[in-house]
Amino acid sequence: MTRVKQHRHDKFRLLDNCLEQPLYLKGKWNQWFPTDQPLYLELGCGKAELSVGLATLFPQRNFLAIDLKSDRLCRGADQAIAKGLSNIGFVRMDILDIAAYFEPQSIAGIWITFPDPYPRDRDEKKRLTQKTLLNLYFQLLQSDGDVRMKSDNDGLMAFTLAEAQQLNLSTDIYTPDLHNSAYLDEQNSLLTRFEQKFLKGNKNIHYLRLTHAGQL
Ligand SMILES: C[S@@+](CC[C@H](N)C(=O)[O-])C[C@H]1O[C@@H](n2cnc3c(N)ncnc32)[C@H](O)[C@@H]1O
Repeated sequence: MTRVKQHRHDKFRLLDNCLEQPLYLKGKWNQWFPTDQPLYLELGCGKAELSVGLATLFPQRNFLAIDLKSDRLCRGADQAIAKGLSNIGFVRMDILDIAAYFEPQSIAGIWITFPDPYPRDRDEKKRLTQKTLLNLYFQLLQSDGDVRMKSDNDGLMAFTLAEAQQLNLSTDIYTPDLHNSAYLDEQNSLLTRFEQKFLKGNKNIHYLRLTHAGQL
């Protein structure tokens, strides 16, 4: 680990808006935030540009930016402090254990941004959009909640669409080229670090919204 990364890793433990595997907050998230309001998650947030942008756009929503890497989370946490945001937290945890952290039907919406594709078949279980996890996300979501995903990876997107179909989820919004589509709005035009990189290389960005089947 570089010295700068080590510094951010150490700082993560000291910041009030950062949480290390907070299993004790299951069912109590509304007590951790200053205001009890709808809770949104970003899974695999990296440096959390999207979550910080969303928390700024929507002060009447709470956000948790989630990742395994504390040095990356620390970058977002610093940004949130600089902007005076109290409606966002930064959580280091393994998303594969998500059910241990949240009660069923307690989440208003989930973002999954540029998840690692894990292209080898033997790593399928690590993909954040494999169907066991998608099924779990929809148990944690409220009945009108949704999962929004952005990815540069054609193979992972085809996999995700197939997994969603097997679960009978509605793929009501999908475009293989968000930045040349009618779906580009204030929220999904906020760019993550990986998105900036892929756009510079002229890579198309897939965008998908999943909802419970039958939901409008
Ligand atoms: C390709 S990066 C994308 C980062 C960010 N979303 C972006 O678009 O710039 C994927 C991120 O997912 C995180 N990640 C992968 N698997 C995870 C898991 N099981 N639990 C928590 N974070 C995970 C990685 O640490 C990494 O920061």
